[in-house]
Parts: sequence; structure tokens; C-alpha cells
Amino acid sequence: ETYKASTYAPVNIAVIKYWGKRDTKLNLPTNSSLSVTLSQDDLRTHTTASCSSTVEKDSLTLNGKDQDVSGARTQACLRELRRLRKDVEEKDGSAPKLSELKLKIVSENNFPTAAGLASSAAGFAALVRAIADLYQLPATPTELSRIARQGSGSACRSLFGGYVAWQQGDKEDGSDSLAYEVAPASHWPEMRAVILVASAEKKDVSSTAGMQQTVATSALFKHRAENVVPGRMKAMEAAIHDRDFAAFAQLTTRDSNNFHACCADTDPPIFYMNDTSRAAVRMCEAINAAAGNVVCAYTFDAGPNAVVYYLAEHEKEVAGTFKALLGEKTGWEGKRGGAVEAVKK
Ligand code: DP6
Repeated sequence: ETYKASTYAPVNIAVIKYWGKRDTKLNLPTNSSLSVTLSQDDLRTHTTASCSSTVEKDSLTLNGKDQDVSGARTQACLRELRRLRKDVEEKDGSAPKLSELKLKIVSENNFPTAAGLASSAAGFAALVRAIADLYQLPATPTELSRIARQGSGSACRSLFGGYVAWQQGDKEDGSDSLAYEVAPASHWPEMRAVILVASAEKKDVSSTAGMQQTVATSALFKHRAENVVPGRMKAMEAAIHDRDFAAFAQLTTRDSNNFHACCADTDPPIFYMNDTSRAAVRMCEAINAAAGNVVCAYTFDAGPNAVVYYLAEHEKEVAGTFKALLGEKTGWEGKRGGAVEAVKK
């Protein structure tokens, strides 16, 4: 008999960034972070997990290519999920012993992998939930976030739709380093995101390596983690709660700039933004100046691509302006991030 489960997980883009770990094995962060989940109609990973006695070894394919499952991160997720399945089997003697079978995991991304488009976030979130569904685990998204975090830190935030916080926690075993929902997407349904793909190339310095170089060398980073982010987390939760776009936008752009300043303060310096990225920043500033109001907010992850947040009522001024430039001399390639939506199974 073959057992099977499939799920989608969406991409999330942080507006208060995760950068730096206090524990590199468990992916325990040096600061809390907060993200917006994008519509999974646009950017997402689809994963199917199956097991049967005829499967001989654990395997994982991504867009048809074999991936290494022996890595510590994937192994940590599989080990945790199997342990929870064992609990189910011990409680219910008639439950099939799926924890003893090998897993076949098949994933598809509909966007470029490792180009700073949070592919690892959607990837590990989908992997963890597909297996949790296959194993019929009674776990909540917050409980699963503890496992997905061990795959990739930002993945813990992709188990929810809408507005999601990852609280850093202070326990050594990471049991309190979890994600929770700040507000569902329906709380602020007018929120939109447009992604401007400056380059779909694989990034130079991975986030995993880059953030630990920053931790080791940047004094600015220490200030960010200790003095800047805690206040911003509170202010961002309040901005979302009040649906205050101007506050949301100011916190988002300042936090992105602070994060990239820490990258520049790293030794040797790390540059994720390029000339095209900086052109997007100026364009946002110009759109806001022309509107006489804050109507768009940009943010950049560990790559040159911009994510621009705006409200539906400003679709024309924001997305329209950027779209008018797409495919022209700027070298931008457009990708609609679409509406921010709840996670559907
Ligand atoms: C800049 O989650 O990819 O996107 O935990 O090492 O897998 P690992 O790092 P990862 O880092 C994401 C960094 C970021 C900011 C963010 O998503 O909060």
C-alpha cells in the first residue's frame, strides 16, 4: 500500500528581517522577525510526500532534479516528524507503522530557486506540512514551525497566511523559537505585493553563510539586534493591527535598509543590492513624492530583487508605474506577487 499527501506552501517576505543566529544547528535567531505571506497562486512550492514498503531510500526531487537528503537540515526535519509519527503509532496500536518506511518527496517551485525569492522558506514549509499530513500528525502550524525552522529559519513563517511573526525565544533547545499569526490576510485584504526581478541568478553569498559573517564581524549588527529590532517588532505589529500603511511602509523600508547596511558593515562586505535595486528604491521614493503620501514600500532580501508592498487602491500609481518600465531599458522582469492571501490546503 502507498500512503500519500500533497500540500502547497507560499513564499513569505520579511518586513522585519531575520539575519543572524545564536545557534546554527537549530537555526535559532538573534532577533525576532515579521513577514507577509504572498498569495500562493503566484509564488509557491507544491510538495507531495509518499511512503510504502517498496520505497528503498529517502529521496527528494525539486523541479525534477534529485536533491541531497543527507544534509543536516533535511535530516533534522525528517527525524522530528518520524518521532511525532512514532508517538501516534504508540498511542494507537492499529495505526500503520509509517515511521519505519522510507519517504519519497517530490517538490515543484514555480519561481527561480535561491535567487533571493525565499525559495527555502516555501520549500521547507511545504516539505514539513506534506509529511505531517501524510503522518496525520495532530500538530498545529505553530508546532510545525518549530520543525520547519530547523530546515531553514524563514520557513517557520511560511506555515501561515497573512502577517506572521517569528519570536526569537530564549531557550537553548529552541522550543520557544516559534512562528505565530499576527493577523490573517483577511484583516488587511487590500495589501498587494509586486516583485521586481532584477536577476534570477543564484545569489553570491547564501543567507546562511552571509548572516554568520555579519554576526562575527559587524558592530552595527549588534546594535540592530539589541536596540533596533525589538522596538520595530512592536511598532510593526501595531501598524498591522491598525492597518496604518504609512507606518507599515516606513518600518519596512527602514528595516530593509538597516539590514543591508549591516551587510555592508560585514567584513568582507556583502552587497546584495545592485544598481537596478537602487533604481527601484528611487522609483518608490518618486512615486511617494508624486502622490504626496506614502503609497509604496520596498524591501530586499539576500538578493537584488525588490518586493514592493502597496494597497489595492494605489495599483495604478505603484504597480502601473513599475510595469510601464518592465521589459524596457531597466532590465526588470515583472512578476506579480498578487494579493496577500490566507494559506489554503
Ligand atoms: C534575508 O531563512 O534563508 O530572507 O535559516 O540559514 O536557512 P537559514 O536562512 P534563511 O534567511 C532568510 C534571510 C532573509 C530575511 C528573512 O527572510 O527574514
